[in-house]
Amino acid sequence: SLSDKDKATVKALWGKIAKSADVVGAEALGRMIVVYPQTKTYFAHWPDLSPGSEPVKAHGKKVMGGLTLAVSKIDDLKAGLLELSEQHAFTLRVDPANFKILAHCILVELATIFPKEFTPEAHLSYDKFFSAVALALAEKYR
Ligand code: HEM
Repeated sequence: SLSDKDKATVKALWGKIAKSADVVGAEALGRMIVVYPQTKTYFAHWPDLSPGSEPVKAHGKKVMGGLTLAVSKIDDLKAGLLELSEQHAFTLRVDPANFKILAHCILVELATIFPKEFTPEAHLSYDKFFSAVALALAEKYR
């Protein structure tokens, strides 16, 4: 689970990431759809699923908003993400395996966009953070 050091590392770098949240979110989502085309099924109702399209950008923004919420609730992710978990489980019916896929794509974007700040130590803490977020989002599936 997340140590105090992991939490501090995540919070410290999130300040910087949040300023580029729109870019990170759009690029990560665009990447997910290209590299893991099976994820497209969830977004079939969008008029345009190509990277950089308006719906991809708009949804990237929402995902990053969800992650900003997660950072603010980092001490109790299960409670903090309860509503988002319910939405993904019952309304959207997203297979929780996809949370790991999106987390991977976000990590790739963090490494690409913040090459200096995204040290192996930051990578470790963010990997643990996204695992905890995925677990919290999957909470309502059972
Ligand atoms: C909607 C966050 C992962 C599919 C949303 C919304 C947020 C969000 C904040 C908007 C909810 C609202 O409108 O009130 C997140 C976070 C994730 C995550 C923080 C993990 C880090 C995923 C994954 C998928 C997915 C992996 C599928 C591959 C969807 C869909 C919607 C949605 C289909 C509705 C979008 C629409 O209909 O336009 N998500 N999500 N989410 N999410 Fe996620």
